Amino acid sequence: MRLAGKSALITGAARGIGRAFAEAYAGEGATVAIADINLEAAEKTAAEIGGRAYAVMLDVSDQASIDAAVKAVETKTGGLDILINNAALFDLAPIVDITRASYEKLFSVNVAGTLFMLQAAARSMIARGKGGRIINMASQAGRRGEPPVGVYCATKAAVISLTQSAGLDLIKHRINVNGIAPGVVDSDMWDQVDALFAKYENRPRGEKKRLVGEGVPYGRMGKPQDLTGMAIFLASSEAEYIVAQTYNVDGGQWMS
Ligand SMILES: NC(=O)c1ccc[n+]([C@@H]2O[C@H](COP(=O)([O-])OP(=O)(O)OC[C@H]3O[C@@H](n4cnc5c(N)ncnc54)[C@H](O)[C@@H]3O)[C@@H](O)[C@H]2O)c1
Repeated sequence: MRLAGKSALITGAARGIGRAFAEAYAGEGATVAIADINLEAAEKTAAEIGGRAYAVMLDVSDQASIDAAVKAVETKTGGLDILINNAALFDLAPIVDITRASYEKLFSVNVAGTLFMLQAAARSMIARGKGGRIINMASQAGRRGEPPVGVYCATKAAVISLTQSAGLDLIKHRINVNGIAPGVVDSDMWDQVDALFAKYENRPRGEKKRLVGEGVPYGRMGKPQDLTGMAIFLASSEAEYIVAQTYNVDGGQWMS
């Protein structure tokens, strides 16, 4: 048990990759807050994981909600050891069709949500004086631009940059901030991605998903469980000397 006795908060953990992280962390002995804007789904996920998992209402685009979620974790477990900034939104449109509303929504959740969640967690960890771990979910989309994914790519590039700045700033408090950059992962989000590509590239539903899977050097799309090893490692004592890095876990999609 590599995370025994640790208290973790995972944003957007009601489903998909966040849920897989929550299952893996609980399996390693951590107490896990399944923090999600969809409280009903979070409660169901927490009940299915059982034992040390519990649901917390969280909208990462709302400061009061962020503060309340961190407080709830402090009250429940005595303090926060690990944050995974996982919640994010996707959208897609050619540059000439991007709307201000889509831009503001994605930056508010993916970038401001990551930053102010990270800030609230760091303040809590600093006050407690026991250090901590923060893991930000980036993406291969943050490594380079991609038509027609301009806004989402920009949000994930910002997450990689914030991971570097926060990592360098917070290590003096023994808070390690690092990131994970997945490639293409078969989750509900990718069903939305596929539907949007079908619309903008005039493809049948499912075709884009099949093609991107075939394009992965490993030979298939990722599964949420392909990412859990890195998430456990970065939260464990073995990663103590790792600071401000973002690791590709993508079946060979990107090399940096
Ligand atoms: N699926 C992929 O191919 C892929 C690839 C690279 C990176 N990622 C990243 O991995 C992370 C998880 O992706 P996923 O595929 O599991 O996504 P998903 O859409 O399946 O799940 C996202 C979760 O976040 C929650 N959420 C949405 N808005 C929220 C808010 N404002 N506050 C709190 N919770 C909110 C949703 O309710 C949902 O439970 C994201 O950061 C995503 O950008 C995913």
